[in-house]
Amino acid sequence: MEYQACSTRYATMKYNRCGKSGLKLPAISLGLWHNFGGVDVFENSRAIARRAFDLGITHFDLANNYGPPPGSAEENFGKIMKLDFKPYRDEMIISTKAGYYMWEGPYGEWGSRKYMLSSLDQSLKRMGLDYVDIFYSHRPDPETPLEETMGALDTAVRQGKALYVGISNYKPDQAKQAIKILRDLGTPCLIHQPSYSMFNRWIEDEGLLDLLEEEGVGSIVYSPLAQGLLTNKYLKEIPADSRAAKSTSRFLNKSDITPEKLNKIHKLNELANERGQSLAQMALAWVLRKGRVTSALVGASKVSQIEDNVAALNNLEFSEEELNKIEQILKA
Ligand SMILES: NC(=O)c1ccc[n+]([C@@H]2O[C@H](COP(=O)([O-])OP(=O)(O)OC[C@H]3O[C@@H](n4cnc5c(N)ncnc54)[C@H](OP(=O)(O)O)[C@@H]3O)[C@@H](O)[C@H]2O)c1
Repeated sequence: MEYQACSTRYATMKYNRCGKSGLKLPAISLGLWHNFGGVDVFENSRAIARRAFDLGITHFDLANNYGPPPGSAEENFGKIMKLDFKPYRDEMIISTKAGYYMWEGPYGEWGSRKYMLSSLDQSLKRMGLDYVDIFYSHRPDPETPLEETMGALDTAVRQGKALYVGISNYKPDQAKQAIKILRDLGTPCLIHQPSYSMFNRWIEDEGLLDLLEEEGVGSIVYSPLAQGLLTNKYLKEIPADSRAAKSTSRFLNKSDITPEKLNKIHKLNELANERGQSLAQMALAWVLRKGRVTSALVGASKVSQIEDNVAALNNLEFSEEELNKIEQILKA
């Protein structure tokens, strides 16, 4: 059926300014790492993307290697663009990345100028786009001069193939240097994409959030639900269709769901219920607390998950008491 975007799509979503840039991002963005590959059911992926846009999620995050197989998430997103989203391109922020392994030989991964710019061309072709809104270096390359990788990002913007650039998985000292190089080149770093959740607080502990604030760079945090752990899905059992149960999942395994973690998840779930929220909603509100993070980047395997997650915006406030309780649960 022909897609017509919902007329109320901008009614409830919150849009946060990305650092000191002119760009605003939705408080909740959708990532296509899982559930959009060639192995997945296309109509389900399409329904998730459509529902997300109807709920005001204007930002879709991809990478060259998302699938499986690698590249297939971009191909599927390209199909959705063609079938449904074409009239709405100017309402969307589409990102992609290069850094991880994509093709054989010495130019198929990391951070050389050769790899980064060839990869971006391939991504544009797969998605059927003239440009992406944000192009990222997906990971720092210990062997390539940072000037070269950042220079490739700058070139992508000058070629008109990206509007903004970002970095992902860079530690604070690497990020600081990258931000300086990009500023000197005249293409400011828009955004950093690190992992962050109640179970993974390295960006607080290592000072990355402080650095980004000082530098006026935005942040979009990935796996804010700890890949599904911070939801009600594992409270009773490991459902057969969950990421932890699927044999293709290399990133979340049954062994990650330890009794200690489950105990914390149960306690957090009780607190979320007291707040009138699902655990997923509280976990998203928590990463967005105090306005320090621009956007929470979630994944979804079902339309209902996107709906649950966006409803987090109904209660983003925490009392000091609630925050303290969360600290106690996490540190126990
Ligand atoms: N830059 C990087 O290196 C990097 C790395 C990882 C991710 N990312 C980006 O971040 C995005 C999100 O990562 P992620 O998928 O790990 O994030 P996440 O939001 O922590 O986990 C998403 C998974 O949690 C489950 N879920 C989501 N909402 C739920 C709800 N309301 N109730 C119950 N379960 C729910 C689903 O798992 P089930 O399949 O079990 O239903 C879903 O696939 C990726 O798509 C990608 O764009 C970037």
